[in-house]
This record gives sequence, C-alpha cells and structure tokens, in this order.
Amino acid sequence: MSRAGLDKNPREVAEMFDGVAKGYDRTNSVMTLGFDRRWRDWSRRVLDARPNEKVLDLAAGTAVSTVEYAASGAWCVAADFSVGMLASGAHRPVPKVAADALRLPFKDNSFDAVTVSFGIRNFNDTVVALQEMARVTKPGGRMVICEVSTPVWKPFRFVYMRYLLKLLPLIAKFVSSNPVAYSYLAESMATWPDQRTLGELISQAGWEDVAWFNLTGGMVALHRATKPKPKAEPEAAAEAAEPTA
Ligand SMILES: C[S@@+](CC[C@H](N)C(=O)[O-])C[C@H]1O[C@@H](n2cnc3c(N)ncnc32)[C@H](O)[C@@H]1O
Repeated sequence: MSRAGLDKNPREVAEMFDGVAKGYDRTNSVMTLGFDRRWRDWSRRVLDARPNEKVLDLAAGTAVSTVEYAASGAWCVAADFSVGMLASGAHRPVPKVAADALRLPFKDNSFDAVTVSFGIRNFNDTVVALQEMARVTKPGGRMVICEVSTPVWKPFRFVYMRYLLKLLPLIAKFVSSNPVAYSYLAESMATWPDQRTLGELISQAGWEDVAWFNLTGGMVALHRATKPKPKAEPEAAAEAAEPTA
C-alpha cells in the first residue's frame, strides 16, 4: 500500500487514492464524525446550482459530492484522475470522466460553475489548477472550494494541530483499506494554507469577488469566487452609452 509525499507527485497521489477507494465513503464519514454531510450540504447551498446549468465537480472521487450538486437539478459531471475512486462510485447516477485537474479535457468557458471538495489540497500546483478551473468556467460563472482549513479559536487550533491531526492515521488503521495514506492526509492538512492565504491564491489565479465562510470553527472553509466578465472596449462602451435619436 502506498502514500504520496508532500511534493504531491500526481502519479503517487492517484495511486494512493486508488488504494483508499474501497470503503472511502465510510472511512470519510467515520473520520469526520459525520460532519462531511453538513459540509456537503453547505457547499451545495453556496454553489446554488440551478436546473439547465452545467457544473463540473473536480476531484470528485466516488462522486458523493457530485450527486449532492445534481440534487439541485443541474447537469453535473464528476471528474477525477483516480480511476479506482471513480469506479467505487460507479453506482452513483452522474456522468464521470477520468481527468487531471491541471489539464482538463474541456473547452474554454464550458461550465456555469466549477467546484472541488477536499481535492485542491492534493493538487501538485494550486494556482495552475485554479487557472485551469477558470479556463473552463464561463465568464461570470462561479467557483466553490470546500477544503480543510485552520481553526479560528486559538486554544482549539493548538489542540487540533498538535493532537487531533495525529490521531487520524491511528483511527485509519481500523477503518481504511490503506491506513498509511492517512499519515499523508494529516501532513497535507497541517501544511495547507489558511483561509486568507488560499483566498489570495484564488485572486492571483484571476478570480474575483473572492469570499470565504468558516464551517465547524474553521476546520473546514468554503471559498467562493466569480470568473470576471471581459471588460467592454472603451470605444464600444462609449458607443453604447451614446443616446439614440
Ligand atoms: C479526499 S478525495 C475527495 C473526493 C470527493 N470530492 C469528496 O468530497 O469526497 C480527493 C480526490 O482528489 C483527487 N485528485 C487529487 N489530485 C487530482 C488531480 N490532479 N486531478 C484530478 N483529481 C485529483 C483524488 O484522486 C481524490 O479522489
């Protein structure tokens, strides 16, 4: 059984998720004490997808997040580069595509909204992935990222970083098909940027109206952003503003 390193080599990351795919959903619910359902519920509400919209759920794994978005009536596709994870969610009635987040097999401006839950932390290059997400999103389209983050209350942050994260690999020994992968999970969580820093990376990648909300005291954060619409050419804007006779 394998785990990836913190350099997040794509091949190692994909192999690691292939190794945890069996029983991933159950392990996830145990590890999060069932909070994963609430976080997904919040992600769906913030994304606010509507019927007739196209939504890309990136790093969708077993598509557990994708079916949540599809409940809104939007057309939602699950994309992930771990074929094992996608196969584990084969019973979920949403289209699935094997794809690398850093080189998406979709045309520019294809989706009304793009979202990623607990996936972006594993990408080899965060800013490149955010730019790629912007490329496939229509101008004015939305992005929602649900990811682990930094608890806001200092005493809890101390306990969380010092003790709780270290418990994860121990719990995984009882519930996961690849317990060694959960030491990667704990390390990648401890070294992931906090809310503000991720917000800055999102802006740096070209998104606008960046905002975030803390869930469960900041253990998880939802970041939301919009792809800018092209600015009107000054001449065209002036013409449009001219009164007609
Ligand atoms: C922790 S799982 C999250 C799955 C799902 N979104 C959820 O909320 O349960 C992270 C997923 O990210 C995927 N992933 C990591 N890096 C990726 C990349 N570069 N391209 C596509 N998928 C990636 C992994 O294969 C894995 O399925």
